Amino acid sequence: MYTLKAKKLISKPFAIVRQLGSLFALAIGVAACSSSAENVQAPGMPESKGIMAYESRIDSLIARMTLEEKLGMIHANSSFTSGGVARLGIPELSMSDGPHGVRPEHGRDWIPDNAGDDSVTYLPTGIALAATWNPELGYAFGKVLGSEARKRGKDVILGPGVNIMRTPLNGRNFEYLSEDPHLAAVMAVGYIKGVQDQGVAACVKHFAANNQEIKRSSINVEMSERALQEIYLPAFKASVEEGGVLSVMGSYNKFRGQYATHNAYLINEILKGEWGFKGLVMSDWGAVHNTMEALLYGTDVEMGTDLLQMPNIDYKKFHLADTVVGLIKSGKVPESVVDDKVRRILRVMYHSGMFSDRPAGEVNTKAHQQTALQVAEESIVLLKNEGSILPLQKGKIRSVAVIGANASRKQAMGGGSSQVRAIYEVTPLEGLQKLAGDGVEISYAPGFEVSRAEKSNAKLISEAVAAAKRADVVVYVGGWTHGYTDEWNGGAYDMEGADKPSMALPFEQDKLIDALLEANPKTVVVLMGGGAVDMSAWYERTPGILQAWYPGMEGGTALAGILFGDVNPSGKLPATFPKKLEDSPAHALGEYPGDKDTLNVNYKEDIFVGYRYHDTYKVEPLFSFGHGLSYTTFEYSNMRVQEQKGVLEVTVNVKNTGKVPGREVVQLYVQDVEASVKRPEKELKAFAKLSLDPGDAKDITLRLPKEAFQFYSEESKQWVLEPGKFKLLAGSSSRDIRLAKEVSR
Ligand code: GLC
Repeated sequence: MYTLKAKKLISKPFAIVRQLGSLFALAIGVAACSSSAENVQAPGMPESKGIMAYESRIDSLIARMTLEEKLGMIHANSSFTSGGVARLGIPELSMSDGPHGVRPEHGRDWIPDNAGDDSVTYLPTGIALAATWNPELGYAFGKVLGSEARKRGKDVILGPGVNIMRTPLNGRNFEYLSEDPHLAAVMAVGYIKGVQDQGVAACVKHFAANNQEIKRSSINVEMSERALQEIYLPAFKASVEEGGVLSVMGSYNKFRGQYATHNAYLINEILKGEWGFKGLVMSDWGAVHNTMEALLYGTDVEMGTDLLQMPNIDYKKFHLADTVVGLIKSGKVPESVVDDKVRRILRVMYHSGMFSDRPAGEVNTKAHQQTALQVAEESIVLLKNEGSILPLQKGKIRSVAVIGANASRKQAMGGGSSQVRAIYEVTPLEGLQKLAGDGVEISYAPGFEVSRAEKSNAKLISEAVAAAKRADVVVYVGGWTHGYTDEWNGGAYDMEGADKPSMALPFEQDKLIDALLEANPKTVVVLMGGGAVDMSAWYERTPGILQAWYPGMEGGTALAGILFGDVNPSGKLPATFPKKLEDSPAHALGEYPGDKDTLNVNYKEDIFVGYRYHDTYKVEPLFSFGHGLSYTTFEYSNMRVQEQKGVLEVTVNVKNTGKVPGREVVQLYVQDVEASVKRPEKELKAFAKLSLDPGDAKDITLRLPKEAFQFYSEESKQWVLEPGKFKLLAGSSSRDIRLAKEVSR
């Protein structure tokens, strides 16, 4: 049974705990609760008294509240707060975006109040975090975000975003984690624990099946139960059951005909029923459309309905406001329905530490900067390195032409609600200039411009070609960008509210890359953005290709370190890079973006998302899920398996057989050799990242519980393990399998 994880009850003498952080009697009733960040444990919340820790106090609070006071708590009373009850010492609940940094202040009635300094650490975005495949970095990332949210006085941070990357065109893939439910789940759990150990509630979003931005507020998603259970729910389930997430955000779209944020099946039956979720469900902003459904099908806090009322905002006109008084007084809806919502909100307040003394939080400390840098360094993926053009040899290279508008473009404020006012942002150009020092001459030419015209610019191209000809090496920094930065009318690229029009590089970059390769074959292409692009025009002729995502405020530092070899790249793709859009399953088998008349979209590709499709249907990708090169090489050997209490422990030896230290991600896939249903050719079920010096070898043991072999049976409506043969596949990517072993389960 899932329980909310409270803070560990510390019985240590006051003085000792004081040094470790702060300990205070609760405002209402007394319970010792250490909230110091120093002594929180590593991933894995401390044992707690569980959900009953505060129920009696919550009972007494609810018993003392009027109906109006209760209703004031279950809807917004400003842009990013829901109401409190001052009379009883219950504060407002203060929330803020976003998943990779605390968003700029928006003012209580959406009139930006930027009087204070709301600049913060701009972390790499979600897809970059996932590309590290490093669960410890997930925790470290969450810890920075939680600490900075506290400093900014927030009780809830609206992240992580865990929606599965069903199509490479989704405008918000840059915020999300993966095409694979296991990778998304593992990274989300660490992140959530990191945030919540700082006394802030995380809010996993967008529940559920919000996998496109086109028509996001009206599209109705249809999919099989198996696809829902095997692909689209696991990251949410893990967030609740393993991460102890305190809040969940219902999504804009409909699911099987009912809005997701008040959906009897998704919220009442699955989230709060099967999974036993005891925290609160808030709506996405403006996602509530029906009072009775919001009351009865799971919305605990209605947010953002004023978006539809602006500028005449009257919070009492929300669905869960004055209208509800009559429904209760008339007996149409029992007051207990409202009480449960208030109870959930109070649980989040208690369990996040709002009634105790929480870490004060910090912004942009050296430690935060270091985390931002490490995530960026471990996220960048070396896709291609022909003739070892990389790393650039400082002794040999005298001049580098840096080309491309993305080399000097600041990205932090783009993307929509996940925007961040970065304290600073080291661009790729600045990073290279800083690292190259006097020894290497760095020239720069934008080559293209980010503009609505979206056309190439002959003058810019000729300037770039001239620079390329003069240099020993060209580093091209292009890819996608966040639409047209902070203009809310957005652009058709990595933006909330819009999907990309295609996989083609915008602003006719292909022309520019082609001209650069002509001018200087020693060209390295660095792609920024939220996912795969069509590289067919230049891929073959380009010796070096890196995927840098949106690497945050230290992104330029990290990229320079990798280009010059100070850092050995260790990122792995969290999503398949198809050769062309038509090869992507949602476009090959499924529907996207759905029927513009009925507004239905049917996930006909079912469970065959990403590599599950490419490997099963033998559609060769350009770069496979889990792919990422290193400046060294790793050898896998000696795979052995033993069973411990029903769990298979798979041990593999990995050796660094190259000349430089490096990090390797050992990936373990499971293949069901024979099954009564069609199963993917392989499924990721465990992974681990390890550091090895040259010549070093380590055993790594990965655990496969019985769930790793199960599939969801539509017939019996449950997870089943069909006895039989399975293949265990250990490798450096989903298509670079090094060792295999057959087992029977
Ligand atoms: C937005 C987003 C959501 C965000 C919320 C508040 O529309 O969908 O991710 O947290 O509204 O800004």
